[in-house]
Amino acid sequence: MKNILTAPFLLEVAKTASNMYRLGWDERNGGNISYLLTEAEVAEYLDPSAVIRTLDMGFEAKTLAGKYFIVTGSGKYFKNVEDDPAHNLGVFRVSRDGTKAELLWGYCDGGRPTSELPAHLMSHMARLEVDPENRVVMHTHPTYTLAMNFVHELDDAKFTHSLWQMCTECIVVFPEGIGVLPWMLCGTNSIGQATAEKMKQHRVVIWGMHGVYGAGKTLDETFGLIETVEKAAQVYMLTAHLPRVNTITDAQMQELADFFQVDYRKDFLYDL
Ligand code: 13P
Ligand code: ZN
Repeated sequence: MKNILTAPFLLEVAKTASNMYRLGWDERNGGNISYLLTEAEVAEYLDPSAVIRTLDMGFEAKTLAGKYFIVTGSGKYFKNVEDDPAHNLGVFRVSRDGTKAELLWGYCDGGRPTSELPAHLMSHMARLEVDPENRVVMHTHPTYTLAMNFVHELDDAKFTHSLWQMCTECIVVFPEGIGVLPWMLCGTNSIGQATAEKMKQHRVVIWGMHGVYGAGKTLDETFGLIETVEKAAQVYMLTAHLPRVNTITDAQMQELADFFQVDYRKDFLYDL
């Protein structure tokens, strides 16, 4: 069996965590990543029958039964993932009844998966319903997106519209718009359910005055999605207090969406 520390999926998660840390999105233990793996991928490095520990998840992820994930640990710092994957990451399988995580590797100091596991696994379930190729869910605290939460109305259409206006390519990158939740208590099943509900329509969900969730087929795609939202939020925050002399009009956004043939949320344009 090959050494898991050389597994491309592990190396990519670790590198992504470092990138997010360096962008200032993940202070202290802020942020978490979950990545759905195939059994074949896992079996190259780990014996799927060798379960180290079984952890109660506190919710039921029935449609994920038997599925494998690599997930960042609770209380762990993104800063440290690359240097010490065994302490900061874990690989587990969801038990047959969907309520437990069967740990195969990692969390080697007795740790457990992120406290946001409900939001992650519930989002995976929601995204897999609409996109069977979805594999990644990412949560992070990007600075400008967070800042924008304090000065902008927390409404799906209005928040999306403001972001679309800030960078020409936004409407092409996230044409379905973003879902926005009010402030809610994190780490709970309720915020997980609310996130998953929004994930049925959007790959990006804002947690009001907390951070953002992104979902996608690959780590690159998901990272790029959040990066684009954050860039738009940065431009918004750098200009929000200045007189607006120019803008990207709704007609221009419609032109972009038509040219790039994206199925955009038409009700998020005009007269908001
Ligand atoms: P964890 O350390 O449990 O992953 O929590 C971090 C976080 O961002 C909570 O929302
Ligand atoms: Zn958080």
